[in-house]
Amino acid sequence: MIKVLIVYDTKYGNTKLAAESILKGIKVAEKIETVIGHFKEVNAEKVADYDVIVSGAPNHNGRPSRIMKKIVDRLAELNLEAKDVAVFGTYAGRIKTLDRAVKKLKNMVEKKLPTLNLFYFFM
Ligand SMILES: Cc1cc2nc3c(=O)[nH]c(=O)nc-3n(C[C@H](O)[C@H](O)[C@H](O)COP(=O)(O)O)c2cc1C
Repeated sequence: MIKVLIVYDTKYGNTKLAAESILKGIKVAEKIETVIGHFKEVNAEKVADYDVIVSGAPNHNGRPSRIMKKIVDRLAELNLEAKDVAVFGTYAGRIKTLDRAVKKLKNMVEKKLPTLNLFYFFM
């Protein structure tokens, strides 16, 4: 059984909807156990129990929301063993700023969580 954790930040609900769509897609596969929740609902210590972490945040002024940065910092403190991680972002039409925000998030994860395998990021 592969355990997948989907965590998101959201202010108005768009990123929650995107996370729920991802959940629907993942649930089609067999032998995958999924848990979904807002960052505030997810116990950071439990993150180590999952094989894959999918994490999403809204774009705020060309960067991932501040909560996303906090969660990456928290994950870095946990010294996680190698696992797969996917990050995504939502935006409101300014594609250049989303591109910048997702690249910043990718760089942040690569720098602070070098043991994790960042296999995909999308919007
Ligand atoms: C403070 C703030 C700053 C934002 N800055 C950008 C931006 O620079 N570029 C953009 O395309 N969207 C921007 N947005 C729009 C959000 O990224 C977009 O509406 C997102 O889907 C909201 O997600 P949520 O409903 O999960 O909070 C901003 C929204 C807020 C509240």
